[in-house]
Amino acid sequence: MTKPRLTIVADPDAAARQAADVIGNLIKHHPNACLILPTGRTPVGLYHELVVRYQAGCLDFSAIRTFNLDEWVGIPPSSPSSYGYFMDQHLFRKVNLRPENCHVPNGLAADLELECAAYEDQIQAAGGVDLALLGIGQNGHIGFNEPGTPVHTCTHVATVAPLTKSTNAYTFGESPVPDQALTIGIATILASRAIVLLATGADKAEILGRALQGPVSPEVPASILQQHPNVLVISDVAAASGLRAPESKESHPPHP
Ligand code: GLP
Repeated sequence: MTKPRLTIVADPDAAARQAADVIGNLIKHHPNACLILPTGRTPVGLYHELVVRYQAGCLDFSAIRTFNLDEWVGIPPSSPSSYGYFMDQHLFRKVNLRPENCHVPNGLAADLELECAAYEDQIQAAGGVDLALLGIGQNGHIGFNEPGTPVHTCTHVATVAPLTKSTNAYTFGESPVPDQALTIGIATILASRAIVLLATGADKAEILGRALQGPVSPEVPASILQQHPNVLVISDVAAASGLRAPESKESHPPHP
């Protein structure tokens, strides 16, 4: 099995530049590439870097297609708590992505199951995903695929774990965090031709170690990435501090 490749950089800014390099390279060779995009604190620096490079004339998003990983149920895109709003603020309005090429699941849909099926169909109709960019939750979730999510899931309605609700509460102010969200599923993520997982900060150290070096288990959804042939993990030093030394070193202990 090919293990995820790991790049450890000094800090979140360096991680953002590294991830922007990967995206820039993809766009250069594949101007109409299809991307899965995450939200959260982690990709903010990456989106800023992409905007800077676009403004410098180095990137053209005019034919790029994007599908966001997830969205809260019941939160309108006009709300600053929604992921649609987040994407508008950090990327969509700031580069030349065409609105019709940017997709975010509709958490207001009257029939959420139907919305998930339609979203999945749109991803397949786009020709599948060239690059899935992911963050990681402190419990190992990717998107809103929380611990226990079966690996065969496509886009679905997810119940948000208590820890995830508390770590995301800062985006809701005094309002309650929704119990449900729509998320691209693990099977759809794994079907992506390439995956980049971004992890920064000491609060991701323990879970990154479990995801990359622990057993592959639905209890740590990101651990399934160990089974994908083309994963790059970009981590800063703080998030990488929970990783054991490479096995090659461990298997050759120094002679006494
Ligand atoms: C949310 C999102 C995830 C994201 C995670 C990590 O739960 N559903 O897709 O990866 O937060 O967020 P942060 O980058 O803020 O740590």
